[in-house]
Amino acid sequence: MLSEKMQEALNAQINAEMWSAYLYLSMSMDCAAKGHKGVANWFAIQFREEQDHAQIFMNYVLARGGEVKLAPIAAVDTAWESPLAAFRQTLEHERKVTAMIDNLCRIAEEERDYATANMLVWFVNEQVEEEENARGMIEAMEAVEGNKFGTYMLDKELAARVYSVPSPLAKGE
Ligand code: FEO
Repeated sequence: MLSEKMQEALNAQINAEMWSAYLYLSMSMDCAAKGHKGVANWFAIQFREEQDHAQIFMNYVLARGGEVKLAPIAAVDTAWESPLAAFRQTLEHERKVTAMIDNLCRIAEEERDYATANMLVWFVNEQVEEEENARGMIEAMEAVEGNKFGTYMLDKELAARVYSVPSPLAKGE
């Protein structure tokens, strides 16, 4: 059974993941409206992944006999100066999410909740990937800055990003 403290922290994380989804959806809409179709696709996939992250946490809370409490999702920005600015905010945001996951790990340790600690390992690894992806996108955007052909080609490449179901959901966990 989840402790009250652990359940509350997991519910806060569900809200944070949904906020992340909302943020990336907003970035996707802004990029689409400004003609950056590939970047819009990249963020649309990110939007789905964040919903998956929330789903993984929700499935887990339910599996432990806990209660999922969905709180309101706070407003997000609606416009960015450029795709590069959106990716810079993405990296900053993902670093905050990493700190939140680390904090959940700390609570699980304090509570001696080994099942939750074990579940969180996937997220610890996922955050390494999330930060790496955001850094990679910043580098790519900086490399083509001011170059119309490069920007066009990069956008085309990003249009090819495809969604894949994260392993905890693919396994039906
Ligand atoms: Fe749910 Fe982008 O971490």
